Amino acid sequence: MRRLLFALLAALAAAGLAASRGAAQASSARAGAPAAPADTAVWSLLSGAYTAAQARRGEAAFQENCGGCHTPVEFTGYGFQRGWAGRTVRDLFELVRSLMPFDRPGSLPRQVYADILAFLFERNGYPAGERELPADSAGLARVRIEALPEK
Ligand code: HEC
Repeated sequence: MRRLLFALLAALAAAGLAASRGAAQASSARAGAPAAPADTAVWSLLSGAYTAAQARRGEAAFQENCGGCHTPVEFTGYGFQRGWAGRTVRDLFELVRSLMPFDRPGSLPRQVYADILAFLFERNGYPAGERELPADSAGLARVRIEALPEK
């Protein structure tokens, strides 16, 4: 059982490497020190990819920076989710960061964009979890968007 688990972790680490990682992780994987799950795992919005506290920060940031032109409803619902399903949160993050706020694109700290997305995910009905939505590009690329079952 442990061997199977290790083989799985090694395979995951290798997959992460193939995607983007440097040699440092290769040696740690070879040495048998499994990388922390957050390093290589790909996880889904359906399994909790932001925290409730982060969504609260994001709500305030949305009101302050987006609320003059948008309501959250524009970015919620099955249409929004299906439009983004199969992509990673990085894609959504980069789109928003490169275009918004409309009058000053890219002007907010990365953390604030991440918090705003956490808030929008909450409004979509995705579950909160134990760990925050990351703000770095590599971390965001590991979170996959999936549509919630249609209601
Ligand atoms: C000054 C008004 C204004 C502000 C502030 C603003 N937006 Fe927008 N936003 C727009 C307009 C106008 C469009 C449509 C632009 C277009 O279609 O080219 C838009 C489009 C969008 C889209 C859709 C982009 C696409 O191509 O699908 C998203 C997502 C978005 N805004 C998110 C945000 C977020 C998040 C914030 C806050 C960080 C924000 N906006 C702040 C005016 C604004």
